[in-house]
Amino acid sequence: MDDLLARMTLEEKIGQMNQLDPAWNSEEKEALIREGKVGSIFNIIGAKEVNRLQRMAVEETRLGIPLIAARDVIHGFRTIYPIPLGQGATWDPQLVEQAAALTADEAVSAGIRWAFSPMVDVARDPRWGRVAEGYGEDTYLTATMGAATVRGYQSHNMAACVKHFAGYSASESGRDYNTTWIPETQLRDVYLPPFKAALDAGALSIMCSFNDLNGLPPSANKHLNIDILRREWQSDALLVSDWGSGSDLVPHGLCADKKEATLRCIRARMEMDMQGCIYNDYLAELVAEGKVSEEQIDECVRSILRLKYRLGLFDNPYVPETEPIAYTDSALQLATRLVEQGAVLLKNDGVLPLNEKMANILVTGPMADQQKEQLGTWIFDGQPEHSVTPLMALRKMVGDKSLNAKLIYEPGLQYSRDKSMADFQKTIQAAKRADVILFFAGEEAILSGEARCRADISLPGAQTELLRALKQTGRPLVLIVMAGRPLTIGEETDLADAVLYSFHGGTMAGPGLANVLTGRAVPAGRLPMTFPKMVGQIPFYYNRHRTGRPSYDPPVLIDSIPVGCPQFSIGSSSHWLESAVEPLFPFGYGLSYTTFQYGEPAISQTENGYTVTCQITNTGQVDAYEVPQLYTHQLSGDLVRPIKELKGYQKILIPAGETRTVSYTLTPDQLGYWHEEQDGFTSRVWFATDEAEWEVWVAPDARCQTPPGRIRF
Ligand code: NOJ
Repeated sequence: MDDLLARMTLEEKIGQMNQLDPAWNSEEKEALIREGKVGSIFNIIGAKEVNRLQRMAVEETRLGIPLIAARDVIHGFRTIYPIPLGQGATWDPQLVEQAAALTADEAVSAGIRWAFSPMVDVARDPRWGRVAEGYGEDTYLTATMGAATVRGYQSHNMAACVKHFAGYSASESGRDYNTTWIPETQLRDVYLPPFKAALDAGALSIMCSFNDLNGLPPSANKHLNIDILRREWQSDALLVSDWGSGSDLVPHGLCADKKEATLRCIRARMEMDMQGCIYNDYLAELVAEGKVSEEQIDECVRSILRLKYRLGLFDNPYVPETEPIAYTDSALQLATRLVEQGAVLLKNDGVLPLNEKMANILVTGPMADQQKEQLGTWIFDGQPEHSVTPLMALRKMVGDKSLNAKLIYEPGLQYSRDKSMADFQKTIQAAKRADVILFFAGEEAILSGEARCRADISLPGAQTELLRALKQTGRPLVLIVMAGRPLTIGEETDLADAVLYSFHGGTMAGPGLANVLTGRAVPAGRLPMTFPKMVGQIPFYYNRHRTGRPSYDPPVLIDSIPVGCPQFSIGSSSHWLESAVEPLFPFGYGLSYTTFQYGEPAISQTENGYTVTCQITNTGQVDAYEVPQLYTHQLSGDLVRPIKELKGYQKILIPAGETRTVSYTLTPDQLGYWHEEQDGFTSRVWFATDEAEWEVWVAPDARCQTPPGRIRF
């Protein structure tokens, strides 16, 4: 590699640092490829087309350095799996890894060697549309899922790009691209560990984020990109900007012009410029002026060439022009399984699974038959015509007699934001002929994802009105939600007899959900995010800190306050008058078609820490998956610690009537956190484990209602 670098001119080096989407102004961009001024292309798919452009780089440029073809492959390529938040809800990293591997097979067969995922930004605010793209609000869950995705892609010839480095998800008020203020200790405790885990899993690249982090956007942030990524973590993964995040330093108000932005980015070692064109336009000039050294450029180019070597592009630059891989049986089966495993049963008054007495089933709601909308955000290569909707899946079951019922279909609303009540009467009449109502509610895909933030996260359109009207029929009402984020569905949950929550499920959302509704699969998903009762509770995540004034039990609520009472006569407790400090549903929560009984945790000391075991019994009639979650709480320490922290989880199948023992280890490192000390005008941070006592739970969700054990270090 050093030999190649030594032979490259400055212009050729700068060319490598440039990533372009040739679909825009294609002639101009192709000329740049021929001149050796492009290191990577993206958004071009198809082996033939990628090879055509590759030939320009390999055969027509002086040094023949191959291009690397990138794409936003986020939750599938042709076969679309549940959105990452839905994958988080499976709590099953093995399935997630398999999905990533099959995704890579499809993408690589279309010429793609570099995926811009996984996104491991820890969710803090369901208004932020990009919670759809991550694995939820917990650092540990996100870290395990992100690492699984990296392993899946990279074991199947596609480089991963872990993003967005860093702090992006802390955007103020859940508005995309917005400012983030994150103290160094919180950055390191909450936001950075999933990046480190993905890099430890071998992630070959990492992407800068769009936000400004404490005033300094990551593309210009030396502390993130050099101090932490290169020096502390010793990572040699390629650092690519986000789309124009370098030139965005001008609209951010950080730099007066693009030339200054270029200087700030290169000094912060942003190595490849995605679609911003600033490196091609200004770097040579900055070198000539002595503001940037050729060594600085070499460092970046070395990373780029290293990625290409690691992918074997120098030896095999072309992809075979054979039939692209898509929708294989194994991919479709796996996609169905991820839907089943990620569907979260939030309420069930006994109506689910559907039974033989339910001879007439009304299928209604705006998401019952939406081939495109169920795919979710970021599906450049997904093809809606391949999606199987819940209506299609249920019809198939009736057709092949695996479901002995008559289906009545009346959508009631045409799309999720539809406010027209014109079809309500028809739908109510249909409900009167039914024994059960399956109401498929949710959000269209366009309402979540990048730049799709909402200030109101209730069900859009007239969906709630239709539910209220259907409730009047007295028929059992099952609400199935397909959405890109947690929604505030308190009233809707009260109206329904059962609620099944499925984040956008992808190509096989229909069969997966139909299997769960009919009992062919037992719901096995657990919430990867806290569901707030109302938007005013946000940000509301389970691992928040305790306050010095914990909420009273019972808390004082708005309607119980005596009129005219003195200001402090109702005390001073940290809670909301409308909703106490209770979420609608807690993190980690999810019901099953069976019940599980948890024993008390048994704790034994080992050489390096503790082993925590717990017995869990399936006390019901069906075999089912359970997700025992290990939580800790540090009782005192150098700094205030979160009320609960997830330290481990397992997904285990427990046959009906049987007991299984789960076992976890806890070492001092797992209980450490970042400390900070101010010394005059400087501050110092360090990672340490306090001498302290911890409560330990093995529990079905973050409420941890079983008695804790205790440990001490
Ligand atoms: C912007 C998004 O923030 C990023 O996640 C994506 O990979 C790039 N655009 C490329 O499309």
